[in-house]
Amino acid sequence: MRMYDILSNKKHGAALTDEEIRFFVDGFTSGEIPDYQASALLMAICLQGMNEHETAVLTGAMAHSGETADLSSIPGVKADKHSTGGVGDKTTLIVCPIAASCGVPVAKMSGRGLGHTGGTLDKLESIPGLQTTIEPERFRAIVRSIGYANIGQSGNITPADKKLYALRDVTATVDSIPLIASSVMSKKLAAGSDAILLDVKTGSGAFMKTLDDAVRLAQMMVSIGVRSGRRMAALVTDMDRPLGNSIGNALEVEESVEVLRGQGPGDLEELCVDLAAYMLLLAGAGASLSDCEALAKDAIQSGRAFDKFCEMVAAQGGDVSVLTGGFRKAPIISPLKAAQSGIITHMDAEACGMASLALGAGRVRKEDGIDHSAGIVLQKKTGDTIAEGETLAWLHTSDAGKLQEAETILSAAVTVGETPPPAAKTVLAVVTEDGVSML
Ligand code: URA
Repeated sequence: MRMYDILSNKKHGAALTDEEIRFFVDGFTSGEIPDYQASALLMAICLQGMNEHETAVLTGAMAHSGETADLSSIPGVKADKHSTGGVGDKTTLIVCPIAASCGVPVAKMSGRGLGHTGGTLDKLESIPGLQTTIEPERFRAIVRSIGYANIGQSGNITPADKKLYALRDVTATVDSIPLIASSVMSKKLAAGSDAILLDVKTGSGAFMKTLDDAVRLAQMMVSIGVRSGRRMAALVTDMDRPLGNSIGNALEVEESVEVLRGQGPGDLEELCVDLAAYMLLLAGAGASLSDCEALAKDAIQSGRAFDKFCEMVAAQGGDVSVLTGGFRKAPIISPLKAAQSGIITHMDAEACGMASLALGAGRVRKEDGIDHSAGIVLQKKTGDTIAEGETLAWLHTSDAGKLQEAETILSAAVTVGETPPPAAKTVLAVVTEDGVSML
């Protein structure tokens, strides 16, 4: 078999055979297929697409390109969740302890932020002392003993995705449904959980800008998981506006703690309860969605979910005292004032993520360090009324030289008008193996 023929087939729109797909993934992972041929195939897939069968075979080959986690020593139905990436999206820090405090084991592996989207691993690492690199046996032991651990993906899990994602990032081939589906699902299948809830984001802060594309991506991922014997559901959720008020690592952990203690922003709590309820339903923790919603709400109100989060932080070596006593604040906290009065009719979520990045909260390249205390706390969001000179947001940074760029990006992200925008829904569609329900 020759890579040249595979490239030519996909260029002309043919469906690749199972053998061709496996030949590509194995050869690229081992280094025999060079980056330039892999890049050409990624672009051909972006332009010509892949059918459901091809995408499932690609996912399987990527999932088995390295080690897979064995969670069989942990009793119960293990549940996982994954978001396709957003701005202010700290739901994993809230939903996982809710599920674990309701008796569902959560063995979570998370990634870092890239571009304008944040990553759970970076958020967790803003807790002083917290270890995210933990040997598999100890990881499983923590889940067996407290029901919940959250680490980074070990170096040997889905090496094909690591290499492919890095290439996609620099070849304009990220926003392709089969490539995102295989990237996400290969990691989820390799991570070994029985039940997987997906949060597929759509809107200005998401990779899928339209609802139609987000639903198609959700359907593809649900179908791949079901073919592999996993219990699957996906919620398609709004990412046209940042989630909650805080963007940036330590700021987002603080806001997650507020939600876990029943004092967080309404949009964030509402979405987390919805996600947790579906995760509990998939894991069989309740008989109906409304039972599971009640369980999730009770986990917050009783303090059990917050206690579970503290247990995980302590088990992974983190300093629990910051969760109640507060994080070290950035030395510079500067207000951004509104330039005109009116109603905020739109706030570009991707630009908010870019402004936070400019303050030091994210990386421009994968190997860059980050400032865990940097980020943005929004005082006003879409739909709010604002007066000229009123504070729109607080910008946190350790470097005064970064303020101006962030202010420029954030000011341009906000549109002020006279007519209130339509009320936003958090969950736009639910996708299961039985079909799509638009809400
Ligand atoms: N998240 C992933 O893990 N992979 C993608 O391709 C996009 C978002």
